[in-house]
Amino acid sequence: VFSKRTDWHRSENALTKATEALKAEAGSALIDLTASNPTVLGIEYDTARLFQALAHRDALTYRPRPFGLEASRHAVAKYYARRGVEISADRIVLVATTSEAYTFLFRLLANPGDTIAVPRPSYPLFQFLADLSDVQLSPYHLRYGDEGWRLDFDSLEEAVDSLTRAIITVTPNNPTGTCLEKKERAHLTSIAKAHESALLSDEVFLDYLDVPERFKDRTLIGGPDVLSFSMSGISKVAGLPQMKVSWIAVSGPDDLVKEAMARLEIIADTFLSVSTPVMRAIPDILDAAEPWQAKLRARIAENRRTLEAMVAGPCTLRKSEGGWYAMIDVPAVKEDETWALEILEKEKVLIHPGYLFDVEEPSVLVASLIMAPEVFAEGMKRVLRCTNVAEIR
Ligand SMILES: Cc1ncc(COP(=O)(O)O)c(C=O)c1O
Repeated sequence: VFSKRTDWHRSENALTKATEALKAEAGSALIDLTASNPTVLGIEYDTARLFQALAHRDALTYRPRPFGLEASRHAVAKYYARRGVEISADRIVLVATTSEAYTFLFRLLANPGDTIAVPRPSYPLFQFLADLSDVQLSPYHLRYGDEGWRLDFDSLEEAVDSLTRAIITVTPNNPTGTCLEKKERAHLTSIAKAHESALLSDEVFLDYLDVPERFKDRTLIGGPDVLSFSMSGISKVAGLPQMKVSWIAVSGPDDLVKEAMARLEIIADTFLSVSTPVMRAIPDILDAAEPWQAKLRARIAENRRTLEAMVAGPCTLRKSEGGWYAMIDVPAVKEDETWALEILEKEKVLIHPGYLFDVEEPSVLVASLIMAPEVFAEGMKRVLRCTNVAEIR
């Protein structure tokens, strides 16, 4: 009855099972260092403005527009202009989520069986998105060294061939925090050009750079002379994933952009997935996002400083250039999943094992930096209490 593409291996892993049991047992004592839901962080939104915006009187009139309402697309262009990035509103396509953006773009660019190059480590949803669009993932590597995480161009050259329709980059990458330097972007562009593949740049965390002023240097919008699609959305930009508005900004040679927009128009018109009340509220949502982001950035910076001061002995903190996560090397006497389970059992702290993001090294943990500083500090104190004694034991 069912398609092969949905024949997923669905058994829960040991950590998920143990987590559920231990979460119930720990109750309120549990500290969740995997937290990724921005709506429960205790960072205040501009509630009055958001509620007023959502009650826009035109919300009750339906005007179907494949790329979204003009005023909303202009508001997205204005969001970029405030960051020094020029993009015309007619090169912006509104979608419901970034996952939907990926799906539209896979449909636009790839035939069944074609490949999409993806970074490793990275965001764990790629495999499902690829399966749903009948495309294959071809991983390339990010490697960690003295200069932090850098793109391994040899592995990218190996990953890309005549079937490759797109190369995905995530900037800053989740969870490594990697961004591409100018030289690296030029190299990436030359590879994409040589293989006639597009660039898909996931920029959902771009407002959370360690140096926010570098936004303009980091986005692919308007940059490379290959067809490129920069994706972002209010899930991370405004901390409102429940509102379901994301976008694709299309750049590159005019003829290719024109053709891409014409085809995307039909894809988007088939779904018309963005809801009118939220589209109407987008100008206010994006304005109200700025102070909210500033508070979250301050929190991330504080939590990172706490980690820098705390991590010592057999553990080390990896360098990062932005994003919501930190990666910590723990003693290789155990694998990351075993560590995560032990930390949960003994210390009642939930932390991600690196393998969930396809980290190659066996003992790296990934912690979210977005929770309240006192909770974060207590959680990390417990994690390090558990991991630091490992070598002595
Ligand atoms: C790198 C990256 N891209 C996209 C998303 C999903 O964004 P959206 O909620 O807009 O689908 C996430 C969510 O965590 C993410 O980490």
